[in-house]
Amino acid sequence: MRTAPNNKVWDAAGYDASFGFVTAYGAPVLDLLAAQPGEKILDIGCGTGHQAAWIATSGAHVIGTDSDAAMLEVARREHPEVTFVLADAQDRVALRAAASDAVCDAVLSNAAMHWMPRQDDVIAGVAAVLRPGGRLVVEMGGVGNVEAISAAIRGARGDIGLDADVASSWTFPTPGEQAARLERHGFTVRLVQLVDRMTPLAPGDSGADWARMFGAVLVDDVPDDRRAEFDTGVDVHARAAGLDVRPDGEPGWWIDYVRLRFVAARI
Ligand SMILES: C[S@@+](CC[C@H](N)C(=O)[O-])C[C@H]1O[C@@H](n2cnc3c(N)ncnc32)[C@H](O)[C@@H]1O
Repeated sequence: MRTAPNNKVWDAAGYDASFGFVTAYGAPVLDLLAAQPGEKILDIGCGTGHQAAWIATSGAHVIGTDSDAAMLEVARREHPEVTFVLADAQDRVALRAAASDAVCDAVLSNAAMHWMPRQDDVIAGVAAVLRPGGRLVVEMGGVGNVEAISAAIRGARGDIGLDADVASSWTFPTPGEQAARLERHGFTVRLVQLVDRMTPLAPGDSGADWARMFGAVLVDDVPDDRRAEFDTGVDVHARAAGLDVRPDGEPGWWIDYVRLRFVAARI
């Protein structure tokens, strides 16, 4: 299976308008973080910065970091009270610079780490910015995440003559893999959980809309003149997988998210 490089550039306005649920679903991870006044907290892959801003209301000093300039532009405009720094979280030097070399009490990441193929580099970088006892609190895609919608996208690729076997550049670890990785990098794992989360799309959105926002390497090479046909194909395959009928009986489409949540303390 071919793995295409991840050159994703985010549509920041579209993300907030239709896919704000990603941020909203991050509430459990904020509860696990339990930010305290005066703490220094780094949010990696902060996107448009809404969670960073929410954490800052606890009195913590928050620095949001992201590798996408367009996402940070929205974050800075909407949350001028928070510091945002452009940084690739896989780059230990960049992470330390974002934290101004000072040690952090906690690092948070929601819905971002599975976009980072070099998981070991991310965790090693986090270990380098956390004080001993400092915590890493994450929700990301876990094993089995978005399997049905990915299969629908691959089916639609095949229908228009593209390679259906292309691998995504996402990383969806098992709980065991991620726990072992954390221990290798000097963390004590306090909690690791794999959670099935049926995730409704915004009213009017279908599988093809999700694919356009998040499909990354699975959709990037679809030629413009085949786009409409491809979108129709995604929805045909997604319907066959039942993604147009919400399991909770409410109207609308849903995506088969599986989240990996973990809390680890730096030794
Ligand atoms: C789905 S968004 C989540 C944003 C935010 N945490 C939220 O909950 O709404 C994923 C974010 O991860 C960022 N990202 C992906 N790879 C990254 C990397 N290597 N370093 C830093 N940020 C990255 C993307 O730019 C994007 O803003």
